[in-house]
Amino acid sequence: MDLTQHIESRRDAYLQELCEFLKIPSVSTQSAHKTDVERAAKWVADKLRAIGMDSVEMIPTKMHPLVYAESLRAPGKPTVLLYGHYDVQPPEPLDLWTSPAFEPTVRDGQLFGRGTADDKGQVHIHLSALDALVKASGKLPINIKILIEGEEEVGSVNLWDYVQGNKNKLQADALIVSDTSMLGAGVPSITYGLRGLNYYQIEITGPAQDLHSGVFVGAVPNPLTILCELFAQLHDKNFHVTVPGFYNDVAKPSSAERKALLKLPFKEKEFKKTVGAPGLSGERGFSLPEQLWYRPTLELNGIWGGYTAQGSKTVIPSKAYAKFSCRLVPNQNPDKITRAVEKHIRKLLPKSVTCKFDVHSQGKPWVAPYTHPFFEVAHKALEKGFGKRAVFIREGGSIPFVTQMHDTFKVPCILLGFGLPDENAHAPDEHLSLENYYGGIKAVANFYQGLGNL
Ligand code: BES
Ligand code: MN
Ligand code: MN
Repeated sequence: MDLTQHIESRRDAYLQELCEFLKIPSVSTQSAHKTDVERAAKWVADKLRAIGMDSVEMIPTKMHPLVYAESLRAPGKPTVLLYGHYDVQPPEPLDLWTSPAFEPTVRDGQLFGRGTADDKGQVHIHLSALDALVKASGKLPINIKILIEGEEEVGSVNLWDYVQGNKNKLQADALIVSDTSMLGAGVPSITYGLRGLNYYQIEITGPAQDLHSGVFVGAVPNPLTILCELFAQLHDKNFHVTVPGFYNDVAKPSSAERKALLKLPFKEKEFKKTVGAPGLSGERGFSLPEQLWYRPTLELNGIWGGYTAQGSKTVIPSKAYAKFSCRLVPNQNPDKITRAVEKHIRKLLPKSVTCKFDVHSQGKPWVAPYTHPFFEVAHKALEKGFGKRAVFIREGGSIPFVTQMHDTFKVPCILLGFGLPDENAHAPDEHLSLENYYGGIKAVANFYQGLGNL
């Protein structure tokens, strides 16, 4: 049997195995799931052993374990580092799932469940491709190091130290990642740029404790109102961020990039349909792909405080909270942005409240040329897997490890995304198209084989 036949013959087995992986609720941000996260790490380690990888290890960190494995048995052939994450986002709100988040279900050619697109399904594409390669020819055509982490969805906080302490171990000719999306269905894509992410939380305190609003209101600060006023001032009417200096270092697309952007089959109509809002509200003066890929933002992720349970309660809350984040683009500096944001917020807040400002995580943006010969191999492999020519895109999401690797080793980073923008990553009813799952396995197997033939 050749490679394609091997993949075909194991279609059902691969899918079943992926479902096993998806059933483990490896939610990295909730401490109640700590043992589940560990179980998922172990699942990955066992699977790596089963496909014949060497030196499989589970590496403990301050939070969730890293899984590492390697196969370095192809002398003279390229060595790649494959990265992915086995942790997932929380499934809440649970009642909005058509089928339960951790009971993977196929409907209309789509596999539904938390982690299908982000990122267990995409990690499993690689594990299946490697399995097929070994089964078809008894060995791998290249050298591969595999690092699958469990803290991506919380900002990869412990990964940097590991990378710095293990440079020789992780050294490779290229980084391979499947944790992004295609531009649209039937448009295989290679991503060459990502935004960075700074994540913040603030706590605003007014009165020393909750107060009866009837007795006190009219004379005392309400931290919830002040929080709302604060966030209302962080954008102007054109949706520009008002933090002084926020845009100082933002790189403009070159004229060549602008031309390439115009040529991309970016479907505005589809984008609007995916969003499902009555209208859009992007920064004025920029096209949609520019707003999403080339412009930095500041957005609220959550805001709370006061009384939100049933009925009414007349109260002035002592505290108000917000979680918010900035997407960063080249050449913004995360530290500089944090200083500017904190300074501006403190300046806008009245003296009647205090503010605690916490930084959850920081991550640099990434963009790199795609001229290395490996990209040509990737391009051909995607065409084999999907029967269509691939496009080069940037994306708005963030993967801290990609930047860390690129800064540390200056190697090409090849991002082959098999998700789709409308697959509800981080939301209820997350799903992965089975066509992309199987097409992905075929493309990735061909990619590794192609690298071996260079
Ligand atoms: N896979 C995503 C990143 C992504 C999504 C890249 C879509 C390109 C397109 C990743 O799992 C993710 O969600 N990252 C977080 C960042 C992190 C620091 C919490 C993100 O982008 O919000
Ligand atoms: Mn991801
Ligand atoms: Mn994610």
